Amino acid sequence: MTKIQSLRGMHDLLPDQTSTWQYFEKIIAEILERYSYQEIRFPILEQTELFKRSVGEATDIVEKEMYSFDDRNGDSLSLRPEGTAGCVRACMQNGLLHNQTQRLWYTGPMFRHERPQKGRQRQFHQIGVEAFGLKGSDIDAELILLTSRFWKALKIDHAVTLQINSLGTSEDRLRFKDELVSYLTKHFEQLDEDSQRRLSTNPMRILDSKNPVIQTLLEGAPVLADFIDDESRDHFSKVLAVLEAADVPFEINHKLVRGLDYYSKTVFEWVTTSLGAQGTICGGGRYDGLVEQFGGKPCPGVGFAMGVERLVLLLEALDVVPSSVSHGVDVYIVAGSEHTVPSMVLADRLRDQCPTLRIESHCGGGSFKSQIKKADKSGADIALVLGEQELSDGTVGVKYLRKQHPQESVVQTGLADLLNLFFTD
Ligand code: HAM
Repeated sequence: MTKIQSLRGMHDLLPDQTSTWQYFEKIIAEILERYSYQEIRFPILEQTELFKRSVGEATDIVEKEMYSFDDRNGDSLSLRPEGTAGCVRACMQNGLLHNQTQRLWYTGPMFRHERPQKGRQRQFHQIGVEAFGLKGSDIDAELILLTSRFWKALKIDHAVTLQINSLGTSEDRLRFKDELVSYLTKHFEQLDEDSQRRLSTNPMRILDSKNPVIQTLLEGAPVLADFIDDESRDHFSKVLAVLEAADVPFEINHKLVRGLDYYSKTVFEWVTTSLGAQGTICGGGRYDGLVEQFGGKPCPGVGFAMGVERLVLLLEALDVVPSSVSHGVDVYIVAGSEHTVPSMVLADRLRDQCPTLRIESHCGGGSFKSQIKKADKSGADIALVLGEQELSDGTVGVKYLRKQHPQESVVQTGLADLLNLFFTD
C-alpha cells in the first residue's frame, strides 16, 4: 500500500524546529504587548467572496492561488490566503470599528497554491498586525518602527532593508494606470507573455517584473509618484520624517506596488538578500477603502504581515538563535524500577523548588547504565540517581554529566539549593 504523505508545499514542523519558532513568536508577542496591540483570532475558512472583494479578482492570489471549494451546501469557501480580509470582516461583524480605534495582531497558517521553493510554501504562517480608525501618518510610522524593533530584538537588523512607496488614492492610481497602459501598449511587442496578459488584467503588477527587457522598458514609463495628490504626498513625507528622525534607514522604491488590490497611500516591504529569491520577509501598507468596500462606514486601516518560515530561515542563516533555545533538559532523574513512587515525588518537588529548570524523569525502566546513557543523550548537565542506598540514607546521587567531577551524595533537603546554584552559574 502506498504511504500517505503530506501535501506538496505543506510541511510538518518537527520538535527540533519548534523551539526556534517559539523563541521567535515569544519575542514578537512581547514587543507587540509593549506597543499595546491585542491579539485577535478568526477562522481559517471564509466565504470566497471575502477575498475576491478585498485582495482583488485580478490578483495572482485570487486568480490562481486560492484553495477554493464548494461545501456541502454549495457555498464557495476558501482557505485564507492572507489575514487582513478576515481580520476586517471579524472586526466589522463584531462591532469593533464603530467610533473606536483598534490595534490588533494575529498569527496562523495561510494557504496559497504557489510553486513551492525555499521560503515559499503552500501552507505558510504569518504574524500580521492591523490598526483601524487612525488616518494620520503617525500610525504608519509606528508600524514601521514596530517592525524595525522586531529585527533589532532578533539581531537581524543588519541583514534587512526597508523599501517604501506611496500609492496615492484610487483615483490617482486610475489616472496613472491609463497612462501606463497607453505607454506599454505602444511597446506591446516587447512585453513578455505574462506582462501582455497583465496589461489588460492588472497593469501595475508589470512594474514588479523581474524580466530585464521589461525593466529597461519601464525606465521610460510614467512614474506613479507624479500622479499622486497633495494629501498623499504630505502623508508620505510625514511618515518618512519620522523614520529619518528615528534613524530607520529606508529606500524609496517607486515600483513597489504590492500584490494585493486594497492598498492606498503608504506601502512597504522589508527585504533581505540572505535568503535567495524569496527575500521579502514582511510587507504591508494602508488600506483606507477596504471597510467601505465591505459595506461598512468608512474606517481607515493600515497593517503588515511577516512570513514566519522566511524569518526562521533567516534566523538560522544568520546563526542568531541563542544556543539555550534548543530543546534541552537540565536535570534527568534516574531510579531503580522499584523506586518509581519516591522518584516521581522527588521530581515533582524539585519542579516546585526549582521552577526555571527543565527536569525529566526517566520512564520505562531499564538498568542504571542504560538510564545514564539516556540521561547523557538528553543533553542534561546533571543526572540524579535514586537507588537503594540513597533511599535508606535520605540522599540523592548527583552525577555531573558534562564536567570532570566525582559523583556526590547530597541530602534530599539540600538538593534544590545545590541545583539552583549550579544552574545560575
Ligand atoms: P503579503 O505580502 O502577501 O501581504 O504577505 C506577507 C508576507 O507573507 C510576505 O512578505 C512573505 O514573507 C509571507 N509569504 C507570502 N506568501 C508566502 C508563501 N507562499 N510562503 C511563505 N511565505 C509567504 C499580506 O498577506 C497582507 N495581508 C499584509 C498586510 C497586512 N497588509 C496590510 N495588513
